[in-house]
Amino acid sequence: MTDNKKRIKKITAYVLACVFSFGMLFLSACQKEEKPGVVYYDVDYLTVGFSQVGAESDWRVANTESIKNSLSRYNGIDLIFDDAQQKQDKQILAIRKFIQQEVDYIVLAPVTETGWDTVLGEAGEAGIPVIIVDRKVDVKDDSLYKAWVGSDFARESEIACLWLKAYADRKHIRPEDINIVDIQGTLGATAQIGRTSGLESASYEYGWNILASVPADYAQSKAEEVMTDLLRRYPEVNVVYCENDNEALGTIDAIEKSGRKAGTDITKGEILIISFDATHAGLTKVLEKKIALDVECNPLQGETIRDLIKSVDSGEEFPKYTYVEEKAFSADETVSSIKLSDSDYEITLLTGEILEERQY
Ligand code: AHR
Repeated sequence: MTDNKKRIKKITAYVLACVFSFGMLFLSACQKEEKPGVVYYDVDYLTVGFSQVGAESDWRVANTESIKNSLSRYNGIDLIFDDAQQKQDKQILAIRKFIQQEVDYIVLAPVTETGWDTVLGEAGEAGIPVIIVDRKVDVKDDSLYKAWVGSDFARESEIACLWLKAYADRKHIRPEDINIVDIQGTLGATAQIGRTSGLESASYEYGWNILASVPADYAQSKAEEVMTDLLRRYPEVNVVYCENDNEALGTIDAIEKSGRKAGTDITKGEILIISFDATHAGLTKVLEKKIALDVECNPLQGETIRDLIKSVDSGEEFPKYTYVEEKAFSADETVSSIKLSDSDYEITLLTGEILEERQY
């Protein structure tokens, strides 16, 4: 072999080695080990900005986890998460930042219903589709969002009130002897509007007394504070309508510290608590008979949101509104079913097995 040929062979081998090493480097840069045993390759991820209300309740924490699990890289989605700490101005800032970041989709769990027209209009102008979750937005133009996923809060309240009516009838309690305090959620949130107005209509229809309605922002410590004060002002209270489980937990603490008892029988002087969410913590109190009825508010909305985004993205048809399924759990057998929209609706008697299976 001539010196020239040797030189050409050396250069060819060098070039091939470089190409091979560069190729290996490129491949390893593309691979990311996120879960043991699962290798991820960089593909075209959809970027989604999610503005969450906050972390005010066990329900909210479960909702965040469900959405984070479903809008994951494993499902082809890069999620940018923002916690607004219960403040609408923080949510508006987050949405504007998502627009600047040129995300593909925006998911918004709005703290209250009003005040969204301008910022959702900005998202629309930037061509970014918006999905609303949990509470609703009250906007002039419904095309400002693609779809909504959440609970029927008015129906939840109807279930609670029909149960209370049936309970009072079975126990032969006169409507005028039912003295309720309403520990409300965040004023202006769809969950608060639906639950408060449902109680107001039922009280008017059945003749119950609402002694007071006070907001506690779905938070345990605030509810304890509010209830402590209400117990002093209204010693005749015998029903507390808590607009979520964390408020019920705070209410139980206030009742017990005052020397009274939370229970299922108001004919024995106990204070009966109705709650919403049916989280593990809430249902634990149902099993202890400190909450008489817990109407479920299902936070597991992540998969539905992921499927909606995929449908919008691939141009498939999708529903504008999706309501999640929900049950109601009671501490005793006084009422086992109610008539809801002319059909029988079962009230589930809570058992230890049901509680054990609860995911959140
Ligand atoms: O909007 C849903 C409500 O918000 C849940 O009932 C409550 O727990 C949460 O914080």
